Amino acid sequence: MSKPLVSIVMGSKSDYDTMKAACDTLDKFCVGYEVMISSAHRCPESTAEHARTLEERGFKVVIAGAGMAAHLPGVLASMTTLPVIGVPLQAAALSGLDALLSIVQMPGGVPVATVAVGKAGAKNAAVLAVQMLALSDEALSQKLQSFKQEMKAEVSAANVALRENVLGNQ
Ligand code: RP5
Repeated sequence: MSKPLVSIVMGSKSDYDTMKAACDTLDKFCVGYEVMISSAHRCPESTAEHARTLEERGFKVVIAGAGMAAHLPGVLASMTTLPVIGVPLQAAALSGLDALLSIVQMPGGVPVATVAVGKAGAKNAAVLAVQMLALSDEALSQKLQSFKQEMKAEVSAANVALRENVLGNQ
């Protein structure tokens, strides 16, 4: 496992079930990370402190998950020059569309790379973080190649199973 290069932040403990997909994916690539709960609304001072000190603590990429008004990724992006990846979470009545529209609509000059709503987004946030880190890490780049091959092999295996199942039912 590398030293912590990715800071994973989420707005509430209720977000962890979804954001765990980002942790699991970084584990798969042996990329070190720190994971924490920090709310842009409920503890804005410590959230700001975290954002302002990310670079001096050695982080390279931030993954921020939030639901509802979902200001956390944008607030972090406003206080760091590190790339911030935002994960919209399905927290309440609007099924994540609220968070998606909030996170994706950053004003010019303060980008948040917004991924899909929910677990697929959390997983993709981690893959995207790995892709960023792999730009200067050949070993990590090789792992990404293997990851792509594994996905391809899984589709092939699923097709074999599908054909066998279909034939078995005839
Ligand atoms: C957001 O509000 C959090 O990211 C969470 O998705 C949502 C609801 O939080 P809880 O009321 O469950 O703590 O800030």
